[in-house]
Amino acid sequence: MVDVILGLQWGDEGKGKIVDYFAPDYDIVARFQGGPNAGHTLYVDGKKVVLHQIPSGIFHQQAQNIIGGGVVLDPVILRKECATVESFGIDVKKNLFISQRTNLILPTHRALDKASELHKGEGKIGSTLKGIGPAYMDKTGRNALRVGDLLNKNFTSQYIKLRLKHQRLLDNFNFNEDISAWEDEFFEAIEFLRSFQIINGEYFVNNKISEGKKVLAEGAQAAMLDIDFGTYPFVTSSNTISAGVCTGLGVAPQKINKVLGVTKSYCTRVGSGPFPTELENETGEELRKTGNEFGATTGRPRRCGWIDLVALKYACMINGVTDVVMTKADVLDSFNELNVCTSYSINGTETQEVPLQMERLPLQPVYKSFKGWNTDTSIISEASKLPDDMKTYIGFINEYLGAPVKYVSNGPGREQIIEM
Ligand code: GDP
Ligand code: IMO
Ligand code: MG
Repeated sequence: MVDVILGLQWGDEGKGKIVDYFAPDYDIVARFQGGPNAGHTLYVDGKKVVLHQIPSGIFHQQAQNIIGGGVVLDPVILRKECATVESFGIDVKKNLFISQRTNLILPTHRALDKASELHKGEGKIGSTLKGIGPAYMDKTGRNALRVGDLLNKNFTSQYIKLRLKHQRLLDNFNFNEDISAWEDEFFEAIEFLRSFQIINGEYFVNNKISEGKKVLAEGAQAAMLDIDFGTYPFVTSSNTISAGVCTGLGVAPQKINKVLGVTKSYCTRVGSGPFPTELENETGEELRKTGNEFGATTGRPRRCGWIDLVALKYACMINGVTDVVMTKADVLDSFNELNVCTSYSINGTETQEVPLQMERLPLQPVYKSFKGWNTDTSIISEASKLPDDMKTYIGFINEYLGAPVKYVSNGPGREQIIEM
């Protein structure tokens, strides 16, 4: 069986921490989509580690970690990340397996990402500039190089052909930065990649499932950044939702068991695009400061606001969420009043549905207010000891979503999580 952990908002919900927490219960931890646009933060022996390409189960010796076929992989970033993980005494190559279907991110994909964003100007997506969009475009355009291609004798000529195509596109953008240093790094990293266990991912995972092994699929980004169901065009280029597990790993839908959806107790977004509950005021600033809301991948300040239950309920529906995990509950500890968005008002009409192009609508969030709990919850370890005002807040969210909040995370540490 496969359980899934994925994000329900606009990313950075704390998926990495939650995967790391549950990983001891699993035989396999697999990334199924996205690439180094992800930044998943874990604390290992009290030290902070941010993973971009490697699944967050890598610090658990019993877990085999897979980079699935739905992922886009930058070998340069992988190589650097392996060095970080190895500095903790972990034998990465022993426990990391890479699907031969995984698509490669080339240096020119990064250049194209940058050129495209510059060209868009004010209308830019706010991409992480890791080459994600261009790499997935080559995948769907049927031009991509995949990890399995490394085994072909003509890999270099395949690369040159694609690079020429990219050069024509870059010329169109009038982009003429010298990326030769990126290419040198890339080819060194390609050699490094060849030394990994390159697998037929779909057989690997399905054979394990047949043997009764437990698989945990680790989502990157989140529902509202999904290419089909997110706030398009301000999204990423992959299916971040539970359906992406099927296409990204090659497992059938009936093999999916639990879907754990991760949400913050408030909401953040990094990059451009609609964010109905955004607070561009002191309260937003307070959330950013208390929650230390700066991007794990790019360091950009995250936009902050109240929890948006309309978007969250939509995300639960699309994903088939069975259990909700609420992270960063402790960040709200010192707020006197909390708001939750229960509907959107558009031209005076209230709706509880996420409309197609929110950014084009005069959309106002409608809030219900709650009393803050003014208690340090980060030191609490039992649900029964949580303050009543927090229980009321969580209880309302439970009821609105129709999916139970089963876990509350009350700090960045591995053990700071409470089963409700
Ligand atoms: P991910 O991309 O979903 O894995 O999330 P990120 O790692 O990008 O961002 C989440 C941030 O919140 C990281 O800095 C975590 O260490 C931190 N974090 C996770 N859970 C909690 C929590 O319950 N409380 C607090 N205060 N921080 C948390
Ligand atoms: P994790 O897994 C937050 C955002 C970018 C941008 C948009 C498109 O750490 O939650 P892309 O580089 O994918 O073309 O950028 O998506 N974005 C993320 N925001 N967390 C992430 O990943 C993100 N990955 C991409 O900021 O708005
Ligand atoms: Mg992140």
